[in-house]
Amino acid sequence: MKGLSILSHLTVAFSIAQKTFAFGLDDEQQQPLGIETEHERHDTKPNIIFILVDDQDLLLDSISYMPNLNKHLTQQGTFYRNHFVTTAICCPSRVSILTGRLAHNTNVTDVSPPYGGYPKFVERGFNDNYLPVWMQNAGYNTLYTGKLFNAHTVDNYNMPFPNRFNSSDFLLDPYTYSYLNSTYQRDFEPPVSYEGRYTTDILKEKALGFLKSAIDHEDPFFLTIAPVAPHSNVLSNDGPIVPGADLSFSAPISAERHKHLFENVKIPRTPNFNPDEKSKPSGVNWIKRMPKQNQSNVNYNDHFYRQRLRALQPVDELISEIIDVLNEKSILDNTYIIYTSDNGYHIGQHRLQAGKECGFEEDIRVPFIIRGPGILPDYEETAVTTHIDIAPTIFDIAGLPLRSDFDGTPMPFKHELNSSDPLRHEHVTVEFWGVAIPEGKFNTLGPENPEIILNNTYKSVRIHSSEYDLYYSVWCSNEHQLYDLKNDPYELNNLYVESKSSEDYGDLENGVILGVSLEKVINRLDALLLVLKSCQGQTCIRPWDVLHPDGNIKSLKDALEIQYDDFYHVQSKVSFSRCEYGYIPDAEGPQTGFTYRDGLAWHHWV
Ligand SMILES: *[C@@H]1O[C@H](CO)[C@@H](O)[C@H](O)[C@H]1NC(C)=O
Ligand SMILES: *[C@@H]1O[C@H](CO)[C@@H](O)[C@H](O)[C@H]1NC(C)=O
Ligand SMILES: *[C@@H]1O[C@H](CO)[C@@H](O)[C@H](O)[C@H]1NC(C)=O
Ligand SMILES: *[C@@H]1O[C@H](CO)[C@@H](O)[C@H](O)[C@H]1NC(C)=O
Ligand SMILES: *[C@@H]1O[C@H](CO)[C@@H](O)[C@H](O)[C@H]1NC(C)=O
Ligand SMILES: *[C@@H]1O[C@H](CO)[C@@H](O)[C@H](O)[C@H]1NC(C)=O
Repeated sequence: MKGLSILSHLTVAFSIAQKTFAFGLDDEQQQPLGIETEHERHDTKPNIIFILVDDQDLLLDSISYMPNLNKHLTQQGTFYRNHFVTTAICCPSRVSILTGRLAHNTNVTDVSPPYGGYPKFVERGFNDNYLPVWMQNAGYNTLYTGKLFNAHTVDNYNMPFPNRFNSSDFLLDPYTYSYLNSTYQRDFEPPVSYEGRYTTDILKEKALGFLKSAIDHEDPFFLTIAPVAPHSNVLSNDGPIVPGADLSFSAPISAERHKHLFENVKIPRTPNFNPDEKSKPSGVNWIKRMPKQNQSNVNYNDHFYRQRLRALQPVDELISEIIDVLNEKSILDNTYIIYTSDNGYHIGQHRLQAGKECGFEEDIRVPFIIRGPGILPDYEETAVTTHIDIAPTIFDIAGLPLRSDFDGTPMPFKHELNSSDPLRHEHVTVEFWGVAIPEGKFNTLGPENPEIILNNTYKSVRIHSSEYDLYYSVWCSNEHQLYDLKNDPYELNNLYVESKSSEDYGDLENGVILGVSLEKVINRLDALLLVLKSCQGQTCIRPWDVLHPDGNIKSLKDALEIQYDDFYHVQSKVSFSRCEYGYIPDAEGPQTGFTYRDGLAWHHWV
C-alpha cells in the first residue's frame, strides 16, 4: 500500500524519476516490519547521515589516507568516480547542495554579501525553502553540526536562526576556521568559545551526541555533520571573514595525536604539478601569469598537504565511531551514509598556490560515496553526477516526490539505473563569479595583485562520456579554454586559440574529436553552455532539448552530426561585456539563442 502511494506521487511529480521509485520499494522490503502506530509513515523511512567536509580533494589522493572511510564507506558502498561540484567554493556550493539548484538560480554566488554568504541566503528566501525544511516536513528529525555557510557569524547567528533543525550546533565566523579557537552555537543559545580545544574533536562529541539522541526518537533522522577539515586555518585580524579583510590563511592544524603522521608524504608529482614549461598557455587570464614555484615554496606546499591529511584523521576516526553506534543500536541496515566535500582543492598544479575557485579537475572533482540499504558494496559508478544531484538523491532515498525547481536529478544506483542510461546527463555546468584567494604564505603574483585575484568570473561546461572528455570555458575577459581530457588528462594544452580565425581551426586541428574539426566541436559546446548558463529545472538536466525541441539530440555526439553544422555556426555565442563580482545578467552577453527546426535556425527560445 505504502509503496503504491510513493509510486503515484513520483510518477505524477516527475516522470523522469520513474526508474528510481523501485529503489525505494526495494529498500522498504528490506526493512523490519514497522509497528502499526500513527508513526508508521515515519518508521519505514531510512535514516540519512550526510558528512560534508570542507575543501577535500579527490585528485590529490587524500582519501587514500583515510582507512576508515575506505573500510566502512567505499568498500561497503558505491564510489562515484565522476562526481563534480558546480561552483568550486564553499558557500555557493553548499547552497546548491541544500537547494538542488545551480548558483545562477540561487544567486548566492559568493562567500559574503552582497553576492553571497548567510545573509544573502536568507535574503533570497532559502531559509524557508531548503533541504532541512523539506526533510522536517517529510517527518524527519533534522540535525546539523559544524559549518553551515560562510558569513554566518557571532553577530548574525540569530538574524534569523537557520531554519528547521530539531537540533543544531553551528561553527560561527570569524572562528569557523580556527582549529584551536572555534566558536559553536547550539539551538537557540548564545555562541560558546572553545579556546584551546581541537575543533574536530569538539565536533565529534557533538555529532555522536546528536546521533545517539536521534536514535532514541522514533522519527527517522537526517543528520548532517560538517567538519571544517581539511580547510586552511584562517585567522581574521579585523572581524568578518570576507575577501579583502585582513586574513591570514595558513596550513590546517592537526590534533596533537596526529602531528607526526605522514612525515615523508608529498603532493603527487603529476605532470601538471609546478610544470617547467607551458608550450601553450595551460590557463588563461591570471592563471597563465603564475611563475614557477621555487624549492622553498614547493617544500611549504608539501607541508601544507601533509597538514591536510593530518587534519582529516579525526574525520576518519569519526566515521568508524558512527558505524560503531549504528551497529550497537542495530540500525546500520536502515541508515544511508553519504560522504562528500563542498569543493575540491589544488596545491601546486598549474603552478597555483593552495586554493580552490578554479575550473580545473582538482577543484571540481570531489569524493562522493554512499553506503546504505540497496546500495551496491565495493562498486564504482562511472556516470557523471554533480552536487545539484544530491538533494534529488536524498529525496529519492526518503521516497519524496522530486521538486520541479531541482536543477539536478537523482544519482543512479547500480541495480536500477546504469551509466549508459539515456536519461542520465553527460554534462556538468560549472560557474564562478568573483575572486580567487591563494591560501598559504606565498603570494607569487607580486605586489600589483595582493591577497585576492580579481576577475575570476567564468562559465564552463564539463562533458564526460566513454567517447570524449572535454572542458570548455568562457571567462569574463572573453578568453576561452578547451581541454581534451582523453588526450590531455592534466589539462596542460589549451586547444582554444584566440587569435585564429575559424578557418584556421579546421585546417590545424581537423579530426581531433570524433573526427570532427575543433571549430565545429566548439560551436556545439558554446551553444550547450549558452543553454546551461541560464537553465532552470528540466533544461539543466536535458539542455539539448532546448536547442532541438524535437527531442532528437541527447548528447554532444548526436549534435555533432554534419546536418547541424550551419545551425551551430550561426548560433549566438557566449560572451561577457565586462567582469562583475556577482550574477549581473547584463554583463553576461546573450541570454538566449536559436532553436533548430527543419534544417533552419528558427526562433529564439524563451
Ligand atoms: C522536530 O521538529 C518538528 C517541528 O517542530 C516536530 O514536529 C517533530 O516532532 C520534531 N522531532 C523530534 C524528534 O523532536
Ligand atoms: C578565541 O576566541 C574568543 C572569541 O570566541 C576571543 O575572545 C579570544 O580572544 C580568542 N583567543 C585567541 C587566543 O585568539
Ligand atoms: C544499461 O542500460 C542500457 C540502456 O537502458 C541497457 O541497454 C543495458 O542493457 C544496461 N546494462 C546493464 C549492465 O544493465
Ligand atoms: C621563493 O619564492 C617565494 C615566493 O615568490 C619568495 O617569497 C621567496 O623569497 C623565494 N625563496 C627563495 C629562496 O628564492
Ligand atoms: C577586471 O575587469 C574589469 C571589468 O571588465 C576591468 O576593467 C579590469 O581592468 C580588470 N582587472 C584586472 C586586474 O584584470
Ligand atoms: C543577484 O544578486 C545581485 C546582488 O543583490 C543583484 O544585483 C542581481 O541583480 C541578482 N541577479 C539576478 C539574476 O537576480
